[in-house]
Amino acid sequence: MRSETVSSRRTKKKKEGLGWLEWFRGWACVFHEFLFQRFMSSHLQNPFPLPPLNHLTCIVTGSTSGIGRETARQLAEAGAHVVMAVRNTKAAHELIQQWQKDWSGKGLPLNIEAMELDLLSLDSVVRFSNVWNARSAPLHVLINNAGIFAMGEEQKFSKDGYEQHMQVNHLAPALLSLLLLPSLNRGSPSRIINVNSVMHYVGFVDPDDMNVVSGRRKYTSLVGYSGSKLAQVMFSNVLFKKLPLDTRISVACLSPGIVLTNVARDLPRSVQVQYALIPYFIFSPQEGCRSSLFSATDAQIPEHCEKLKTGDKPICTFISQDCKQTKPSEEAHNVETANRVWEKTIELIGLPLDALERLIEGEEVQCRYGTYQE
Ligand SMILES: NC(=O)c1ccc[n+]([C@@H]2O[C@H](COP(=O)([O-])OP(=O)(O)OC[C@H]3O[C@@H](n4cnc5c(N)ncnc54)[C@H](OP(=O)(O)O)[C@@H]3O)[C@@H](O)[C@H]2O)c1
Repeated sequence: MRSETVSSRRTKKKKEGLGWLEWFRGWACVFHEFLFQRFMSSHLQNPFPLPPLNHLTCIVTGSTSGIGRETARQLAEAGAHVVMAVRNTKAAHELIQQWQKDWSGKGLPLNIEAMELDLLSLDSVVRFSNVWNARSAPLHVLINNAGIFAMGEEQKFSKDGYEQHMQVNHLAPALLSLLLLPSLNRGSPSRIINVNSVMHYVGFVDPDDMNVVSGRRKYTSLVGYSGSKLAQVMFSNVLFKKLPLDTRISVACLSPGIVLTNVARDLPRSVQVQYALIPYFIFSPQEGCRSSLFSATDAQIPEHCEKLKTGDKPICTFISQDCKQTKPSEEAHNVETANRVWEKTIELIGLPLDALERLIEGEEVQCRYGTYQE
């Protein structure tokens, strides 16, 4: 009886969306980024200068197009061992051939390879992680770059049953990050870098309705996309807080800016034309990958992360498109929701609640999606 009263009180109090002030501030951030990103990043060089990275192994998801493609190429040209984690391995192999050709005569051949990963299938994520972990090799940087923004009112679901933005932009990268922890631990100090978006400022997540199917909120692709990006920030905050300090695994989310890539492939043709007609405001992929490269390589990031870890609240670093530490949205600081997003995510990706602790200890953890063994 008593617990019923408490739970009904909780239901009454439950936040159903952003307050109008948060919503207004969120859109102000989006427009500010759009209008001023070029001005704010005028101090950055293009291409982003990288030190020699021969000691690093980096996995970059979604590296056949846009920001990920530039990120993978530049990391490889700086000497890193780059693994292109992609759903279209044929396209990746063609790119590798092209890059090797363009690079010939400038240094040692690029150390780059392609592996299959389809984020619309959690089985594929488990398979990828199993194959990678079986190498018993260190992993220094995981860049969760792949993402979708499918414009339109139609709500689509993966074969795992999850709303597609939520699966590709949050759930699958979350599973990948956790399953690769043994390799990241081996590569310590190491980093998990999430290519997020300024759109998370206008996002809202209901942990009891991650797929936006309850009917309490009307689904649009904007709701799907911004909610998935916010879920990723919240999950990353808790993940970072839970990782023991001595693992020296940093977690960062970032905004690449507004970038002319294939992410707009599903926009109506007329909008795509307008998008391409405003190049002054919009970054090229080479400009858009600077915050990814910065987050993956800047020597100050681990130090900054360590400082955040000692605070009370679960919070990970957020890097802006002009490569500065910035604050994620107010809602991203909602600790109660972030903890519930963490728990719900772990449930949806089919891991036990203590998966993180056990993976860090090197224990075997079973995932509902495929049989995961270290
Ligand atoms: N462009 C922007 O203005 C902007 C702004 C903020 C944030 N972002 C974020 O930046 C990241 C990169 O996007 P982008 O702009 O470079 O877009 P993009 O050119 O469309 O590249 C997205 C990449 O993700 C891959 N991908 C999509 N679905 C996948 C799946 N199911 N499994 C594996 N890979 C998949 C794509 O592979 P295929 O080539 O095989 O389709 C592609 O390589 C995304 O997370 C996006 O949300 C972009």
